[in-house]
Amino acid sequence: MSTPRRIAVIASGSGSNMAAIAAACERGDIPATLSLVISNVPHARVLARAAEWQLPNRCINHRDYESRGAFEEAMLQVLQKNAIDLVVLAGFMRILTDRFIREYYGSLLNIHPSLLPKYPGLNTHQRALDAGDEEAGATVHFVIPELDAGPTIVQARVPVLSGDDASSLAARVQAQEHQIYPLAVRWCVEKKVELRKGKVWKDPSLTSNGTNA
Ligand code: GAR
Repeated sequence: MSTPRRIAVIASGSGSNMAAIAAACERGDIPATLSLVISNVPHARVLARAAEWQLPNRCINHRDYESRGAFEEAMLQVLQKNAIDLVVLAGFMRILTDRFIREYYGSLLNIHPSLLPKYPGLNTHQRALDAGDEEAGATVHFVIPELDAGPTIVQARVPVLSGDDASSLAARVQAQEHQIYPLAVRWCVEKKVELRKGKVWKDPSLTSNGTNA
């Protein structure tokens, strides 16, 4: 695979991770273009944010399609028409089929708000609180067909504080997401991280803060 140059973000919600990636591209920290923002949710905040960043954006509403497959075909067509070579899921709340994942296998990233393999799926912060965990966090991983089970690229950890509720914990985790997601995208664009034989390969020069040793 050649070096990724054109990134798409797919999101369903507020788009704070998309904005963090847009900012990193604009600063030159990620040597690629955020070329397209797609949301499956009409009026999602991420679309307004993309417009504020003057990024090409469009809604592909899953409700307009008769099947998951037809929805994904529409997304694939748009991605391919825009020559997208790295797809970044940032709060995209639909499950993808094998067909879509195969198309971008190794070039498809997701961020999940837990320290995977703990708490795949939904309500991660409440589940961490209910379990009495002392720490929580977020994981950036390559997407494979099994939900939230792809190989980890990077994790961020935060303490769970007494008095936390799901929203205070989510805010603390999200602040870290905005650090690690642009970093992971940069590593992928620079080909310092790759999915090889189902495992994450990291360039030996890589340190955890993304600088070269
Ligand atoms: C993020 O916290 C992300 O980890 C989570 O959605 C939020 C999106 O926030 N993703 C998932 O739950 C995926 N299962 P954002 O729209 O502000 O970036």
